[in-house]
Amino acid sequence: MSKHYAVFGHPVAHSLSPRIHAAFGRQTGIAVDYRAVDVEPGHFAQALADFAAHGGAGANVTLPLKLIAFELCDDVTERARRAGAVNTLIRNGDAWHGDNTDGVGLVRDLTARHGLDLRARRTLLLGAGGAARGVAPALLDAGISELYVVNRTAARADALADALGEPGRVHPRYLDDLRALGEFDLIVNATSAGREGGLAAALPHSLVGRRTAAVDLNYGEAAIPFLAWARAAGCHDVVDGLGMLVEQAAESFARWHGVRPDTDAVYAELRERDAVLVTAD
Ligand code: ATR
Repeated sequence: MSKHYAVFGHPVAHSLSPRIHAAFGRQTGIAVDYRAVDVEPGHFAQALADFAAHGGAGANVTLPLKLIAFELCDDVTERARRAGAVNTLIRNGDAWHGDNTDGVGLVRDLTARHGLDLRARRTLLLGAGGAARGVAPALLDAGISELYVVNRTAARADALADALGEPGRVHPRYLDDLRALGEFDLIVNATSAGREGGLAAALPHSLVGRRTAAVDLNYGEAAIPFLAWARAAGCHDVVDGLGMLVEQAAESFARWHGVRPDTDAVYAELRERDAVLVTAD
């Protein structure tokens, strides 16, 4: 049976992952059969079982399925365990092995592509869902100083801070507290507030200092409000999630095929196609 790969999400029609994996396949000479599968959370377990039965060898998982994917795995990597979320599934015999490449993808994009030194950065993480959980451990490992986690639903910020297990470094705070938190060197938007959210309206300019980098894990339309806020607030670097998307895909590709593709050409191609997107200063 030939091997199949897919990205599962809901919605997923606009996912760039099939295009990215096809490009990696062309570059490395590996024939890649990778498609997007739209599945609601309640039907994900069955869809994944069907996929495996028909030669599914690996999958990416995007919102809102990353936490469910974690539950469906028979075993997970250490970084997926710390995140409590899985974005990469690898078929291993009759079992699913789970990994999370979001965090390493983000850190690689910020450091290698955008040249940012993350060490000692006082960091604000907005959001506490699957995306936030995926990147928080990698940010801590990259050497940021303190991590403040702020979420609309305070209990989820508390839960994420607890799960990270570093009470001296990680602090949950309320949205209402933002004005009292001072300046941050790194602000990461890991919410899915997007276009209609109104999140930006809740963010005071007092969060921004001289060298603040603002990063939205979203890209395209969904990233516009936060990135517009970041520019208006005078952030030194303003980065969307396109580079992270390409980097986490490369890491998944390497897990499945044993070859690490070069990401620069694919990133440049996607960036060119979407002139709406903003890049780092
Ligand atoms: P993901 O996998 O993208 O993280 P998720 O687990 O559903 O998806 O989490 C979405 C995140 O965006 C959450 O932190 C959510 O806040 P709540 O936990 O309070 O739901 C946040 N979010 C979504 N819409 C938002 C909005 N309009 N304003 C602020 N935060 C929002």
